Amino acid sequence: MSEVIVIANQKGGVGKTTTAVNLAASLAVEGKRVLLIDADPQANATTSLGYTRNDYEFNIYHVLIGAKKLSDIILSSELPLLDLAPSNIGLVGVEKEYYDSGQSKGRELIMKKAIAQVKSQYDYVVIDSPPALGPMTINALSASNSVIIPIQCEFFALEGLAQLLNTVRLIRKTINPSLAIKGFLPTMYSSQNNLSKQVLADLRQHFKGKLFTDDTDDCIVIPRNVKLAESPSFGKPAILYDGRSRGSVAYQNLAQAILA
Ligand SMILES: Nc1ncnc2c1ncn2[C@@H]1O[C@H](COP(=O)(O)OP(=O)(O)O)[C@@H](O)[C@H]1O
Ligand SMILES: [Mg+2]
Repeated sequence: MSEVIVIANQKGGVGKTTTAVNLAASLAVEGKRVLLIDADPQANATTSLGYTRNDYEFNIYHVLIGAKKLSDIILSSELPLLDLAPSNIGLVGVEKEYYDSGQSKGRELIMKKAIAQVKSQYDYVVIDSPPALGPMTINALSASNSVIIPIQCEFFALEGLAQLLNTVRLIRKTINPSLAIKGFLPTMYSSQNNLSKQVLADLRQHFKGKLFTDDTDDCIVIPRNVKLAESPSFGKPAILYDGRSRGSVAYQNLAQAILA
């Protein structure tokens, strides 16, 4: 049985793409067949795997408007078990276009239906979502078994979280009753920074049972680590750029927690 996991938080710059790419890669290195879907018009996940926009003709936009099947757009990656459904800046028009196209009924389910056609070929589908609670994120949440919410260990970290959790509740009530919160993931943690410590303490207090833990029962925290920031510019997930870096190891631990 395959599992669909969306990485979501409507705030930008909290580590969604970094989490999607490195979780997907770490699961693939663990021997799982993984499809990473880039559902953000900024296409950062696509770039992070080494693709530039002239390398491919079709993207998730063509799938969402019904012009292509998901299987038509899938690209391979440097990791044999990791595939990518790319995005493109062209996606910017998609929200308006499919609201205007008259297929209002069931429009939240387009991604779910697209995934259904390829699902049997993968153990995990990981979706990177844009920094908004718009139709793209609603589609991704509607298509998923669970959501991982990265929380940046900075000031205002928990701001907007209530709105995201309300959206999850609403989607459960309407289109996707079994959508689970897989966990909150503290990102960009810096042990020298008191604010970071405070945010982590807050998360431990409010979401104790919903933090990922490693095999020694420690809470999994993604450290601020320059290798995670550098690897996208080499078109590689961190595990292929510097697999022993603290950042990459943290994502490998996350993958193991998910497999456990
Ligand atoms: N743990 C980390 N350590 C250092 N830099 C990080 C870390 N996580 C993300 N970044 C960097 O921070 C920026 C925002 O991260 P990103 O994953 O793109 O966030 P989002 O997808 O939520 O907008 C990117 O430049 C990324 O490389
Ligand atoms: Mg992103």
